[in-house]
Amino acid sequence: MENEVEELFQAVFGIESKKVYFAPGRINLIGEHTDYNGGHVFPAAITIGTYGVARKRADQKLRFYSENFSELGIIELSLTDLTYNQTHDWCNYPKGMIHYLREAGYAIEQGMDILFYGTIPNGAGLSSSASIELLTGVILNDLFDLNIKMLDLVLTGQRVENQFIGVNSGIMDQFAIGMGQKNHAILLDTNTLEYELVPADFDEYVIVIMNTNKRRELADSKYNERRAECELALSRLQTILPIQSLGELTEERFEQNKEIIADECLIKRAKHAVTENQRTIKAKKALVKNDLKTFGQLLNASHASLKEDYEVTGVELDTLVETAQKQTGVLGARMTGAGFGGCAIALVKETELDSFINQVGRSYEEKVHYPADFYVANVDDGARKL
Ligand code: GLA
Repeated sequence: MENEVEELFQAVFGIESKKVYFAPGRINLIGEHTDYNGGHVFPAAITIGTYGVARKRADQKLRFYSENFSELGIIELSLTDLTYNQTHDWCNYPKGMIHYLREAGYAIEQGMDILFYGTIPNGAGLSSSASIELLTGVILNDLFDLNIKMLDLVLTGQRVENQFIGVNSGIMDQFAIGMGQKNHAILLDTNTLEYELVPADFDEYVIVIMNTNKRRELADSKYNERRAECELALSRLQTILPIQSLGELTEERFEQNKEIIADECLIKRAKHAVTENQRTIKAKKALVKNDLKTFGQLLNASHASLKEDYEVTGVELDTLVETAQKQTGVLGARMTGAGFGGCAIALVKETELDSFINQVGRSYEEKVHYPADFYVANVDDGARKL
């Protein structure tokens, strides 16, 4: 792939660069919609992601090209105007990174040519946007010798998402993509940013990514609405409990106090945030003990909660997940990421893989009338120079 993207760079920009970078995408094993509720998440970086080839320019021009949006051609911007601009489309992600890093005082004083090539299917919910953010971060770090810590790039990426793009997302995606380690999942406490690397060892099982091929548009989605619902539920609980986030509550304490929320829908949203956080902690313990059966059951319970209480699944994800759960050799399945389309994951016995894909693929197409895609997830290192 490195040679291919170098050649592409030469073809597009008419000049050579051997500086090649990669930022992964991510899956989340469990811990969904907990990262903005002060809870735990358990994601991993994967081998599909975004490649970048870059060179510094002598002037102030920024010339960006994405092979995934080749119809847009080279988009030319300038270091002198780094404000958000809707017509600049995907370029707002790298633009936002440059903008905030310059604002933080980092000397980025020359333009660049950058080629992007993503192997993450667009809109799949595997965090292509966070992948572009972190890719830009490592490119800037390297080209301008900035010595920025990865955690700072991670936080800058989240800031781009929240303030530049306007999606109120948590820290999970950028953290997984920046801090990922090959063959390890990351148990992250989003309250303290303390984390633990846990071997992603599933014996004779593999994690299969199932793509609904239903595009999810995060900014347009109900994501911000869910976040606001959780904040409202929290503020009502805070009238009787000294807590800073829903992640601080055990299930028992939540059950004892939930009536103060006084709204069925808000109670369900908060219940998901509380129970999902507890499931995530249990799932990590189960994985460490190699108790894959319990781990799989927690995946199933997570999906049920995202469907019933958080209501972020939909017919596409439910069909994939519920069909997957019934197959031989499957220990568990759930949606992954924000929901409303995008991808799900299943823990599948490797010897059953072909029949799994056939069966689930067939049932899905019968019901939804277009096909799903299946990929085996390999867990990779975080964003880096190649
Ligand atoms: C998106 C957001 C994350 C997280 C998930 C849901 O991927 O970017 O911060 O909230 O949804 O768990």
